[in-house]
Amino acid sequence: MSSPEAGGRAPEPPQLHPLLATRFSPLVFDPAHRLTEAEEDVLLEAARWAPSAGNSQPWLFHLRHRGTPGHDTLVARLAPSSRRWAPAASALVVNLAHSTVEGTDWQFSEFAHYDLGQAVAHMTVQASAMGLSCRQFRAFDLDGLTADLRVPPGWTVVTMTAIGRALGDDPHRERRSLDDLRLDLPGPT
Ligand SMILES: Cc1cc2nc3c(=O)[nH]c(=O)nc-3n(C[C@H](O)[C@H](O)[C@H](O)COP(=O)(O)O)c2cc1C
Repeated sequence: MSSPEAGGRAPEPPQLHPLLATRFSPLVFDPAHRLTEAEEDVLLEAARWAPSAGNSQPWLFHLRHRGTPGHDTLVARLAPSSRRWAPAASALVVNLAHSTVEGTDWQFSEFAHYDLGQAVAHMTVQASAMGLSCRQFRAFDLDGLTADLRVPPGWTVVTMTAIGRALGDDPHRERRSLDDLRLDLPGPT
């Protein structure tokens, strides 16, 4: 970032970090690429260090590498749309939130899903830093997968993530404008 004083030029607009600017959710994964155990550990480590309300860490991740036992269980529950691309990813991850206190119907944390999302975001950005890509998705049979995996009481399957090496060009990505996401509220009258 330059300043008129330092560089004699007008200030530039804020520059997004390349990790964030270049990240995208691929629909084509390299079916030959394999995720190493060490890479898996780093991805989980990134999620581990995400912030959470009261440091409650209300997340669990069920990860299966392509071609290893249990991966077929996840593939079997994909919706037709995700079945077109997710099986080629190097690994599939089931993202779970701690929704209720075991043995009760008390909410575990008001922010469980919010915090899980942050942890998955951390994992996603870490993957980018490692030359990998993630596509988070909800296109799967949630009830069927929950039954197949025998999800522990109090935990809820929320999303899945496909992780691997992206093939092909970056897709065209669009977003609402900066102005469109600013909300100016009038406050009390
Ligand atoms: C909670 C969540 C659910 C998603 N579900 C799906 C899905 O079911 N199928 C799919 O193809 N992509 C899914 N996506 C990926 C989004 O479509 C994608 O992130 C969005 O289009 C923006 O593209 P980008 O990540 O490349 O910027 C999901 C993403 C999130 C965060």
